[in-house]
Amino acid sequence: MHPGPAGEPRRDFDTAPGVIAISREELPALPDEIIRDPEAGRLDLQRWFANAAAAVEIEIGSGKGTFILNEARDRPDANLLGIEWEHEFFAYAADRLRRAGITNARMLHADAVQFLRWRVRAGSIRVIHLYFSDPWPKSRHHKRRVVQEPFLRECHRVLVDGGQLHIVTDHSEYWEWMQEHFARVTAPAGEALFERRTFEPPSSAGEGELVGTNFERKYRRESRPFHAITLRKLTASAGASNPSAPTSVKHTDRRLAQLQEGAAAEPVDAGTPGAIPAALPVAETFYSIQGEGKLTGVPSFFIRASGCNLRCTWCDTPYASWNPEGSPVALADLLGLVRQSTARHVVLTGGEPLIFPQVAALCEMLRDAGIHITIETAGTVAPAGLLCDLISISPKLSNSTPALGDPRDPADAWRSRHESRRLNPSAIQSLMNCAPEVQLKFVVSSKADLAEIDALLGQLRGWSPDDVLLMPEGVVAPEPEHKAWIVQECLARGWRYCTRLHLDLFGNSRGT
Ligand SMILES: C[S@@+](CC[C@H](N)C(=O)[O-])C[C@H]1O[C@@H](n2cnc3c(N)ncnc32)[C@H](O)[C@@H]1O
Ligand code: SF4
Repeated sequence: MHPGPAGEPRRDFDTAPGVIAISREELPALPDEIIRDPEAGRLDLQRWFANAAAAVEIEIGSGKGTFILNEARDRPDANLLGIEWEHEFFAYAADRLRRAGITNARMLHADAVQFLRWRVRAGSIRVIHLYFSDPWPKSRHHKRRVVQEPFLRECHRVLVDGGQLHIVTDHSEYWEWMQEHFARVTAPAGEALFERRTFEPPSSAGEGELVGTNFERKYRRESRPFHAITLRKLTASAGASNPSAPTSVKHTDRRLAQLQEGAAAEPVDAGTPGAIPAALPVAETFYSIQGEGKLTGVPSFFIRASGCNLRCTWCDTPYASWNPEGSPVALADLLGLVRQSTARHVVLTGGEPLIFPQVAALCEMLRDAGIHITIETAGTVAPAGLLCDLISISPKLSNSTPALGDPRDPADAWRSRHESRRLNPSAIQSLMNCAPEVQLKFVVSSKADLAEIDALLGQLRGWSPDDVLLMPEGVVAPEPEHKAWIVQECLARGWRYCTRLHLDLFGNSRGT
């Protein structure tokens, strides 16, 4: 006997694996090849249904299964896949579908966000239903919310052209959060991946209902307000920007080489999977003491990606930006080097590590090996599906822009490129959600920088003064008077003063 979902009598559930529930045979373990090729684990979901000719619709978080049951009954031609991560609800809903004799709806016990990312082919899903998604009200739990920019980008990838994402929620604060994330994937503020449409109730909704799920019925009795929207995938941008459209590895390598040289016109969303190379251009790796930030003093293995989409005038690692050096190192070899070093902490730094799509895969490998991961980034791009333990974002202020006539930039190409790319608040906000610990590290050269920092912080949510660090510019110990005003500001604002311990310990030398 299994306990039923809250309030339900205890009884056995028969999920009918292979008939209603998706079985192990139908969803085998992810193959190792996904490190090199994210397509390797993706399946033809239509084959899970009797009518293999019809496109699939997905419901994320089916709960007790009322919507999927009624919708399957109402639309026998539709193929519906309900995904539920709570086992008791999954079993309850599957058992309900079985008892009702439904043949066009199936249930999967999985995390829907991960499932979309690793298992679903591009352009294969007609509709995604997301009703009363858990709001995770505490700010430290916001990163667990389903609706986030990377998820929306993943939905864009898996939906057919013109496909739709239907969302209903009762939670006003979560709704507000959604608006910010919608703005990043809709015109005019963001990339035009979707258009907003008025939500139309599905055919199974009852009189006066939006969808008719258990939660809607419960909340309606409590007279809660509801919010609803449909996002429709735009076709025009799909071809141009769908990063998962099949690309040959050769093509991707060429694109990466361009990125490394900084020749790409725009920063890319490096995390959306295409044909991801199995190697990362690396300027250097070394085992040393973390010299900056919240983990100062912690022995760490550093992997410095070679290549950057910016050109800071005072860059202290020009061999990874202005003149990128090094060569591609296989991800498996990088993991081997980390293991050899016995380090428990890895710092992925650069250059800009996040312009390389393979960094997400490297993080997965490191995480599986139980390694603590810090990513050091300027925060100009926010790849989808990135996971780390500490995201160290160093937004670049105007003091970083190369001057006119900089001999490193004879064609004056980098000044405007750097200036237009250096600050991307929405990318910073997304990155802040990819790790449980965040630091925002600002390189400051004068008091004038503070106004820019305040303006940026005013646009960001979910940080505390403890997460903000001021670091004096320069590769030598700062002059006492330069330190003094920074210390004063830190005291006044509750921010952290950031030293560079590695300069004290080893001086300004490579590999430290
Ligand atoms: C608040 S309930 C709403 C259930 C149902 N949609 C309704 O309106 O009655 C949210 C459901 O989504 C499930 N869920 C949340 N995040 C999920 C995820 N990433 N993958 C699969 N299920 C998820 C939860 O376990 C829960 O059953
Ligand atoms: S972002 Fe970092 S690596 Fe890139 S140019 Fe600026 S300081 Fe150098």
